[in-house]
Amino acid sequence: SSVLRSVKTLAKPAGARGYSSESVPDRKVAVLGAAGGIGQPLALLMKLNPLVSRLALYDIANTPGVAADVGHINTRSEVAGYMGNDQLGQALEDSDVVIIPAGVPRKPGMTRDDLFNINAGIVKDLCSAIAKYCPNAIVNMISNPVNSTVPIAAEVFKKAGTYNEKKLFGVTTLDVVRAKTFYAGKANVNVAEVNVPVVGGHAGITILPLFSQATPKANLADEDIKALTKRTQDGGTEVVEAKAGKGSATLSMAYAGAIFADACLKGLNGVPDVVECSFVQSTVTELPFFASKVRLGKNGVEEVLGLGPLSDFEQEGLEKLNPTFHIRKLFQILQFFRKC
Ligand code: NAI
Repeated sequence: SSVLRSVKTLAKPAGARGYSSESVPDRKVAVLGAAGGIGQPLALLMKLNPLVSRLALYDIANTPGVAADVGHINTRSEVAGYMGNDQLGQALEDSDVVIIPAGVPRKPGMTRDDLFNINAGIVKDLCSAIAKYCPNAIVNMISNPVNSTVPIAAEVFKKAGTYNEKKLFGVTTLDVVRAKTFYAGKANVNVAEVNVPVVGGHAGITILPLFSQATPKANLADEDIKALTKRTQDGGTEVVEAKAGKGSATLSMAYAGAIFADACLKGLNGVPDVVECSFVQSTVTELPFFASKVRLGKNGVEEVLGLGPLSDFEQEGLEKLNPTFHIRKLFQILQFFRKC
């Protein structure tokens, strides 16, 4: 179709000059937590995305300034800022994609699980509003701990009768971004050409990069693969420590969030073969939610792809992550719902 053709044209790398906004579908993207460390650069990157026609920036404070600032950029989307619970409905109405980086980030010495008590409540409230105002939107969950906030969002949507497992995504793209960067450095290959699937979850050893499937191929020693795996798993902590109390990854996360939202928009617009890793409802393992490669389409998840062949080291990693991941997550979520 002509829509598909024009979307393909748009999907070309930057440098493709001029486009007709009439030839791409209108898409509204809402960012919840838009005035935060991730929210602001993410708002900027979404404003640069020609697939977005309306950008709604929501936070509990400071969104008018962010919206005025980002809104002056001469790209396609109209920008509006919304502040406080009273304006949440308006921010969400008609959204195609809702990105959630709302909540508190880690400080040195904290694990992602330490954020659970505060962020679970925030995510629950925001998801209740999504169920009410834009039940068909694709949700990109960035708020940590993703391993728990995604199942919580699912429960909220189930309760509201709006749950669609094809439209709920935990954003694990930053793990992929890190794995690609670290691999390219070690293997001495062009980072722009690197692909590395990262599966599992989004915390410590649940982050499992599959370097045996990395391309371009490189003959790295086992020790190098181990070190790369560990660095990918600890990438978030590396940033938390370097920022020394001033938050966690924000700029690289905004980049990763923008890549993933762009993939969701391309899928919605019918661009074929859009594949990204994401933490979704899954039957790939016995875990109900699991990150793996996912094909994105007009309805969100088109297909959850399997793990492919694993090295012995990766197989071990997979076995190790299952019980830790499952029991801790289940315990937290049960406690949370008992308190509600
Ligand atoms: P931040 O503290 O700089 O910003 C969070 C924003 O959320 C603030 O502007 C705050 O006002 C807002 N907020 C709080 N309650 C809200 C509510 N009820 N509704 C709307 N907005 C609300 O934190 P930062 O650095 O932007 O991190 C945000 C979240 O993203 C954290 O949970 C962090 O752990 C997570 N994160 C996730 C990553 C991933 O790979 N998935 C990577 C890095 C961070």
